[in-house]
Amino acid sequence: MTGRACGKVILLGEHAVVYGVPALAVGIDRGVEATAERLTDDGASVLCLEGSGEVLVTDDSDLARAFHEVLSASDVSAPMRVTVHAELPPGAGLGCSAAIGVAIGRALGEALGQPASLEQSVARAMAWERVFHGNPSGVDAAVSAQGGCIRFVRGEPPQPLRLATKLELAIGHTGQSSSTKTMVEGVARLRARRPAVFQKSLDGIRSLVTNAQLALDAGDLKGLGQLMDLNQMLLSGMFLSTPEIEALCASAREEGALGAKLTGAGGGGCVVALCAGNADAVVARWQREGFSGFVTIVHPAEGRT
Ligand code: PMV
Repeated sequence: MTGRACGKVILLGEHAVVYGVPALAVGIDRGVEATAERLTDDGASVLCLEGSGEVLVTDDSDLARAFHEVLSASDVSAPMRVTVHAELPPGAGLGCSAAIGVAIGRALGEALGQPASLEQSVARAMAWERVFHGNPSGVDAAVSAQGGCIRFVRGEPPQPLRLATKLELAIGHTGQSSSTKTMVEGVARLRARRPAVFQKSLDGIRSLVTNAQLALDAGDLKGLGQLMDLNQMLLSGMFLSTPEIEALCASAREEGALGAKLTGAGGGGCVVALCAGNADAVVARWQREGFSGFVTIVHPAEGRT
């Protein structure tokens, strides 16, 4: 009675996606696994999240509320025991929260003999996400449920993209976690204070995403890397970068990465560097500098046509 979901990397378009700009995202092989079983007694449902101990659905905490929401969205009234194992760091921009929501929703479906459809998995993850993030665009839940490479526009079904060539990605962690809710609220304040300047950034990101989709389609990794670098500049202009993010991006570029940027909410968390045969060298460099990182490959077969 197990459910799995993948983590994700946003190649381009985070934050702007909250305001209707498309984002490009890929599922990664690290993810979340959840198991669900029916409790034989009539007690409250229990969530066992590695690192956070046991939470009863009746507890007064965000975790308990999120658990309640995902149980309701899955039409589960019987008491359940759900155990979650995450291979993703939380608060790091790799979609840990949405992946937990998808994995729990899937495990509940399996336990009840009604496997969740793709749409149901996304809806269950969104119910979970809303408790923590307030105003999620839905990109994390969509890519976590679907995997592969997607173009996502808020409120629309995700569009699977065909990859012309594999993507070799190095993912580096600043060592700092950040709250997506806080970062999204900070961007909303910036938008309220300087609407015209903010709109220019959104327009800029929209055109980068359009060109990145063309680059992906053509297998133009050099072009894609340059567009990621430009996206990073616009994200820094929105006060989402940090000295550690800039250091990780600079080291990756020095090691020959084609492009590097923060991924996800920023303010800490992870960076993604697009590589061409040198992802191991990029990660080794980060490790020498005291950061952690790993390599992930997105294969063309995973991007559906
Ligand atoms: O929660 P994260 O760090 O994976 O970021 C989610 C992406 C944002 O665009 C920042 C927020 C959203 O809801 O799309």
